[in-house]
Amino acid sequence: MRMPLRVLSGLSVSLMSFSFVGCAKEPTPAPPPAKSPAPESQEAPASTSSNEKPSVPKGDTAAAEVILGSPELTAGIPGEGPLTSDQIQAWLEKPDNHVPLEIVLPLGLMAGTSQVQGIADNLMTRAKIELGRQLYFDKRLSADNTISCASCHDPDEGFARHTQFGVGINGQMGGRNSPISYNRIVSGAQFWDGRAGSLEAQAVGPIANPIEMGNTHEKAVETVAAIPGYEMQFRVIFGDDGVTIDNIGRAIATFERAVVTGPAPFDFYEGVRPFLAMKPADLEALKDDDAEAYAKYQAAKAASDAHPMSESAVRGRDLFFSEKVGCTACHVGANLADEKYHNLGVGMAAEKPDLGRFEISKDEKDKGAFKTPTIRNVALSAPYMHDGSQKTLEEVVEHYAKGGTANQWLSTKIKKIDLTPEDKTALVDFMKACTGEFPKIERGRLPE
Ligand code: HEC
Ligand code: HEC
Repeated sequence: MRMPLRVLSGLSVSLMSFSFVGCAKEPTPAPPPAKSPAPESQEAPASTSSNEKPSVPKGDTAAAEVILGSPELTAGIPGEGPLTSDQIQAWLEKPDNHVPLEIVLPLGLMAGTSQVQGIADNLMTRAKIELGRQLYFDKRLSADNTISCASCHDPDEGFARHTQFGVGINGQMGGRNSPISYNRIVSGAQFWDGRAGSLEAQAVGPIANPIEMGNTHEKAVETVAAIPGYEMQFRVIFGDDGVTIDNIGRAIATFERAVVTGPAPFDFYEGVRPFLAMKPADLEALKDDDAEAYAKYQAAKAASDAHPMSESAVRGRDLFFSEKVGCTACHVGANLADEKYHNLGVGMAAEKPDLGRFEISKDEKDKGAFKTPTIRNVALSAPYMHDGSQKTLEEVVEHYAKGGTANQWLSTKIKKIDLTPEDKTALVDFMKACTGEFPKIERGRLPE
């Protein structure tokens, strides 16, 4: 049976082939002898080609504007119980589901619109997001049907996992903590060491990683292609190529891009903060002089009152952004992450430390450096750091207060900070106030 729709045909995107494997770091060979001392600059260069406007390509059909995070994008194909081929076909026959989405980010993350990555090469459509959603939750991608992406990036555990290390097929563990998998749309290179250049490249790795999903790409493709509901979706969405490992990666990456988190009390507070800085008399005057600005103030205040930051969290916010404490030297921008690599000394006291970014760049200054994680929703995804060695946010703050763990590659931005117990609590309270709303995501409803 031929499907009537071939909306995205003619779009040829060549995906690179992927040489690295998986989410978990491969067992690394002994590090090569140290190279000659590296350039003076302390920090790695930006890993991403950000700053391009999110050029939303226009297909044959007019693009449809949609706020990412809207529940209907990730809520699954309408219906109850097992997902039938008839339901999938009806879904695929709706032209709306193939219209390239012109995406708008939610309040907060919206400030990162210029950082949006990857959607020009891999158009976002409702149908592709939905296909990626199914694959993300489908354990049949693993060798023994036990592990899905969600096993280590679980919506119930902050899209990460509360274990120290990722736990894959047959209970195997790598040496790194499962990071979060949301807000990836504003992020370029993936993994703690940035070894995947894109989400598409990242997504196919775990399937064939022996300690994660333990499968081969060939077998995964065969399994998926043998499920009629999947076969139909791939053929309609990707054209004659149908089910390929690259297309699996593109679908999963598209779903991940749709998983963005909504405004947190922090964002609502940022909205009202400029007004709070005004003198009461000036604010009163605004009422008469600039009705529009005053209305904006009232709306911002109402939103912030409905999602309040505690006094301590406000204090913590000011510390976080202050020169003295300097968290924003790295946790900066809409996603509170600079997408660069830094050495905080985590794990560096070990006899054979994980050298992180260095393994990829072979640049001396990258030894022990890892990619800055987001602070958004961080309260939900303990334990912390690339090796999951810090169990609580309090422990993380102590690590910064003592100036990290000394080692010869420690970032120059990490210094001992004088913090009172009250300051420390405030920083933790601020981070908790960075928890926003998650989109509603259907976890079942996979093709039979
Ligand atoms: C066995 C556990 C496990 C499974 C299964 C797994 N991951 Fe991961 N994931 C990890 C770990 C651990 C890392 C970090 C590895 C590293 O940085 O070396 C990671 C990293 C990532 C990242 C990078 C995030 C960032 O901030 O750079 C993304 C995105 C991701 N995984 C998505 C996926 C997807 C999609 C799947 C399914 C195809 C998947 N993962 C399956 C454990 C897992
Ligand atoms: C020099 C850059 C830099 C500065 C300054 C910095 N961070 Fe970090 N932060 C990082 C990096 C890099 C990591 C991951 C390090 C690792 O795993 O080895 C990290 C990890 C974290 C984590 C763990 C997140 C997770 O998902 O595991 C938290 C929480 C955190 N930082 C909060 C803070 C706070 C609070 C401050 C200010 C007191 C701060 N950071 C200052 C770069 C920085």
